Amino acid sequence: MTSVVKVWDLPVRLFHWSLVVLIVFSVTSGKLGGNWMEWHLRSGYCILALVLFRIVWGLTGSQTARFSDFVHGPKRVLGYARSLLGGATPFHAGHNPTGGLMIVLMLILLLVQTTTGLFADDDIATRGPLADKASGAIVSLFTTIHRININVILACVALHICAALFYLTVKKDNLIKAMITGTKAIPDDHPAPSLSGHAPAVIIIAVAAAFVVWLVKFYPR
Ligand code: HEM
Ligand code: HEM
Repeated sequence: MTSVVKVWDLPVRLFHWSLVVLIVFSVTSGKLGGNWMEWHLRSGYCILALVLFRIVWGLTGSQTARFSDFVHGPKRVLGYARSLLGGATPFHAGHNPTGGLMIVLMLILLLVQTTTGLFADDDIATRGPLADKASGAIVSLFTTIHRININVILACVALHICAALFYLTVKKDNLIKAMITGTKAIPDDHPAPSLSGHAPAVIIIAVAAAFVVWLVKFYPR
């Protein structure tokens, strides 16, 4: 027997779908260049605030949002992958061990993308707000990393979407719907995860956004 319970809090779901929209916009605007760059930078600042929020929420938030709930050692990740390929679908209310690994990787890559963006310079008209603080060698290196890292991010996103579609079509497990509604059918012998209230999330995102504004507008040049 199963019962339908809430597994993803609203902050995690808002984080996810805002991130998707902003990344599509950031990649498109970055590739288009020109007048789009002003908005490219703004969208990047929003992504930086979101990632900082998610890191803090991963340490303080709901059970399924916490890194301690979904970050596991190589043995557990490989064990899960093996059982998956063997035809089993071990149940996880939150992220499974392989998904958890990909999520940590994507957060790190996004942190690299936004940090290098702050120091990037296209040698035409767009300069990251902190480029003046660094040497020419660092600016050049970070611009190169910014250009290369986006391809790694896109490869991970493609794999991530393929994984979600694999669960949907092969495993008949609609993780995408759960990331929208926040609910999943969980076996009765499985405890429902405990979710936090929204107030701490609002405070964390406000502090993260204020930090980013300070960094790009008020950090001493
Ligand atoms: C720019 C593209 C995307 C990025 C960067 C991204 C990133 C992420 C991240 C960071 C999480 C973890 C959420 C959290 O715990 O806070 C996640 C989860 C998830 N994403 Fe995405 N995502 C993207 C696009 C998509 C798309 C298009 C889909 C649907 C086809 C999707 C489906 C999911 C699902 C189902 C989960 C939950 C997985 C689970 O149950 O463990 N994502 N994604
Ligand atoms: C703090 C936020 C960010 C800042 C300040 C920033 C800044 C810049 C700058 C100055 C350039 C021009 C460098 C060049 O290619 O010559 C650039 C290019 C680009 N950025 Fe960002 N960026 C940020 C975040 C992001 C994010 C989050 C993404 C995608 C997830 C992204 C994707 C790109 C892409 C695709 C290009 C074009 C690279 C190419 O020429 O092929 N940026 N960015």
